[in-house]
Amino acid sequence: MFIALEGGDGVGKSTQISLLREWLEAKGRRVTFCREPGSTGLGEKVRELLLFQREIGICRMSELLLFMTARAQVVNEVIRPALDRGDAVIADRFLLSSIVYQGYGGELDVEEIRHLGKIASGGILPDLNLILDLPLEAAKTRRKGTPDRLESEADAFHERVREGFLTEARLYPEQNIVISADQPIDAVQQAIRSAVRSILKQP
Ligand code: TYD
Repeated sequence: MFIALEGGDGVGKSTQISLLREWLEAKGRRVTFCREPGSTGLGEKVRELLLFQREIGICRMSELLLFMTARAQVVNEVIRPALDRGDAVIADRFLLSSIVYQGYGGELDVEEIRHLGKIASGGILPDLNLILDLPLEAAKTRRKGTPDRLESEADAFHERVREGFLTEARLYPEQNIVISADQPIDAVQQAIRSAVRSILKQP
């Protein structure tokens, strides 16, 4: 089982991921967690370059390809072996983030990104994307620390990102579930667990 937590910046993914992980482990599942970009030596270097080395120019296409590079590596080193062992894999972001941030937000071609994403991940895609949705103003007040490269994009970019997640969920309701993050932590977690329960039941 492969689940990705998705959503805009500041929607509270980390808290929800910890709670989901605890719940799955309490049910006796082995859980492998990874974040994107990151979770491998190469991925963490790419993360640093993409998010924090703001003095280095990165055009939108290079940005996309760097996210894809990190993804190819994490699939190879972490996700595929974990799925082969029978672990539940929880990813903090996966391909949907590229589709939405570099596609809807950055205005690259969405279908090309989808295609490239399948190549980069060797066809391994989440069974379910859980999309935490929050209005932009609320998300902005929840963000912490110095804004990284993507967080520093204009509000219009982040509005397109939010709309992008909702559009993708409408287009592909089987793989994407939208959960309002504008409710107490417990209520969000209950919604996440009930979505995960539905795929745990599948053979
Ligand atoms: P991160 O610190 O993980 O942000 P968050 O805690 O909000 O998930 O930084 C990841 C940033 O990179 C985030 O702004 C989303 C962006 N991103 C993309 O633009 N494309 C991608 O493919 C991925 C995986 C992330």
